[in-house]
Amino acid sequence: MKVLTTAKEVREHYRISVLRNPGFVPTMGALHEGHLSLVARAAERCRMVAVSIFVNPTQFNDPQDLLKYPRTLDADLEMLSGHLRENDFVFVPSVEEIYPEPDTRRFDFGELERVMEGVHRPGHFNGVAQVVSRLFDIIRPSYAFFGQKDFQQLTIIRELARRDYPKVEIIACPIVREHDGLAMSSRNRRLLTQHREKAGEIYRTLIAAAAMISDYEINEIREFVADRINMIPDFRLEYFEIVEEGTLKPVHSVIEMSPEKKYFGCIALWAGEIRLIDNIEIGLR
Ligand code: PAF
Repeated sequence: MKVLTTAKEVREHYRISVLRNPGFVPTMGALHEGHLSLVARAAERCRMVAVSIFVNPTQFNDPQDLLKYPRTLDADLEMLSGHLRENDFVFVPSVEEIYPEPDTRRFDFGELERVMEGVHRPGHFNGVAQVVSRLFDIIRPSYAFFGQKDFQQLTIIRELARRDYPKVEIIACPIVREHDGLAMSSRNRRLLTQHREKAGEIYRTLIAAAAMISDYEINEIREFVADRINMIPDFRLEYFEIVEEGTLKPVHSVIEMSPEKKYFGCIALWAGEIRLIDNIEIGLR
C-alpha cells in the first residue's frame, strides 16, 4: 500500500498504476474493527481501495471535541498495512491540502438535517458534506463505503451523492459491535472504565425498545429508553427517535408506520463526557 498526502500524488498514483476510480473508505483515523470491515468490503468489490485519514475540523461544532479527538496515525497505518494491497493507498492530507482557503460552501439538506444530530450538533453535517465532497473530488471513487452506525450521516451522504456525485455508489455497511454489543467507535477508547463497563446497556436497551413496538406507543418506548439510560450513573440520554429510513421523518405514533417502509430507532447519549450514538432497525411484526 502507498501513503499519499496530496491530490497531485493521487493523480500520479492513478497514472502509474493504470487504475482509477477506487473503492473509497473515508475515515478520521483511530481505526478499529468497524473501519476494517469497511476496508474488507471495499477490497472484495474493487480492484483498488483508497482509505483517507483526515480529522476534519469543519465538522466539529465543539472545539474541545476536535482537540481531544484521538490521533493514532502510526497504529492506523500499521493496521491498514495488513489489509491493503500493492495498488491500494491511504490518503493522509493536511488541513491546507483539503482547505487551501476557508470552505464557505453551505449545503442544504432540508428536513434531513433538521432532526437528531442536525439539531444537537449545528453545522456538523455541513462540515461532513464539505470534506466528503472535497475527498470525492480528489479520489474520484466509483464506490464509497460508510458505516450504518452514523445513520443520519449515511442518509445525508446518499443525498449529496444523488445530487452532486451520481457516479459514486454509496455502500452502507453493518454496524460492528464489541462483545457486549457496544457499537464500535473511535470515541469508545476515551470512555472511563466505569462507563465502558456499563456501555453494553445501550444496545440491550435498543433491542428491548425494538421489541416493544408491537405492544406500546412511541412515547412509551421513548420513556422506557430515557429511564433505562438515565438510570446508569453519569449517563444522560440526549435523544431517542424512531425515524423512517430515507426521509428521517420521526414517527409519533405506531399507526403512522407502514409495513412497506423501514424504521430505525436512533439514540444519542452522554457517557460522562463522551457522546455516543447507535441505532437499531425497528421492524413491524
Ligand atoms: O464518519 C466519519 O468518520 C466522518 O464523518 C467522515 C465521513 C470520514 C468525514 O470526515
